[in-house]
Amino acid sequence: MLTDKRILMIIGGGIAAYKSLELIRRLQDEGASVRAILTEGGSKFITPLSVSSLTGDKCYMDLFSLTDEAEMGHIRLSREADLVLVVPATADLMASMAHGHARDLATTALLATDKPVMFCPSMNVEMWQHPATQRNVAILAGDGITQIGPEAGDLACGEVGSGRLSEVPAIVDAVTAFFLNQAAEPTTDKPLSGRHALVTAGPTWEAIDPVRYIANHSSGRQGYAIAGALAQLGARTTLVSGPTNMSPPAGVKIINIQSAREMQAACQESLPADIAVCVAAVADWYVANETTSKVKKNGGPPPTLELVENPDILAGLCKSGDMRPELVVGFAAETDHVVEYATAKRRRKGCDWIVANDVSPATGIMGGANNTVHLISDGAVEDWPEGTKEAIGLQLAQRIAQHFAPEAKGEAKS
Ligand code: C5P
Repeated sequence: MLTDKRILMIIGGGIAAYKSLELIRRLQDEGASVRAILTEGGSKFITPLSVSSLTGDKCYMDLFSLTDEAEMGHIRLSREADLVLVVPATADLMASMAHGHARDLATTALLATDKPVMFCPSMNVEMWQHPATQRNVAILAGDGITQIGPEAGDLACGEVGSGRLSEVPAIVDAVTAFFLNQAAEPTTDKPLSGRHALVTAGPTWEAIDPVRYIANHSSGRQGYAIAGALAQLGARTTLVSGPTNMSPPAGVKIINIQSAREMQAACQESLPADIAVCVAAVADWYVANETTSKVKKNGGPPPTLELVENPDILAGLCKSGDMRPELVVGFAAETDHVVEYATAKRRRKGCDWIVANDVSPATGIMGGANNTVHLISDGAVEDWPEGTKEAIGLQLAQRIAQHFAPEAKGEAKS
């Protein structure tokens, strides 16, 4: 997939620098050639020798190296690449990129490059959420620089939250998607240009009282990956998301909601759309007797929650008459008889396709990095191989693009 692509990797000074070594290998497995600049901070975590052993090239470090400049100046280094990939992108590197510092070889090459840049943030959760970092994220997005991750989870510092470097396969997928997308650009418009895609993702929170709610384990990762992939293929994409720790994918309009009823209202307000992909793990019930004050233990019996069924957002979109999106895709998370139950669900809800996945605890799909799905359309079931949620997202977006391709229009709607 990455044959003949030249990637200049800039390795920043964070604990996740060790993952860049594995990333070099995986990019090479896909056919890319990798050159690397190691920052001084990066060299505190991994050695130049490990980097150059893997790249098969020098490990570039010094801006003022006479030998490097004679053989390969910083300008050439940054230009003789198809992509500059900053991994891990520390808060300091991101600040330098956002503000145009050229203090060392890495930041100078980033300023001198005329090539696309992608960066993979990795830092402590407080550093990531700090308004200064978020300002820099916005500046970089405005400069057209593509962000990959970060993800939420256990951090090396012992804290938990957003700031983990994306997993290596997810970074490889994002780089591959970038080149696929770029390949489509010179000849045609992007395949989903002019289309509006609506995606729901994440869990919903159903309030019990001002401090308690009913939720589920959905991470939002699959829905975010689908929204990101649809946007990469050119769709104007609206992501209606329940509470997650994910950062919004580049180029996607995000509407944050909490309850299923808010999700439904946001979806209806976002119509018209050509495509709707309902990935959210919507709670089946909301609490009708939600209280405005905190429920207290008063020595009596525990409170009784009065549950009322939530609106079915997917079924509602399918029944929205003239406003029905042309292609409505649902998800079916099942623990038994996965394909059989999902096939029945497709009919019951009235959607065009349903993506079925086995979420029994042993699969680790709920909240995990990978997914194994079956795409069920009218009369056909495709079993897709296991992949990261990002790879599945890209594959689904490509199938959606095929559905909208002019040559597919004459065919029966599948
Ligand atoms: O009914 P079930 O939750 O299994 O259906 C799953 C599919 O329906 C998913 O696509 C989910 O996003 C969607 N759904 C919805 N609104 C609900 C329940 C499910 O959009 N209230």
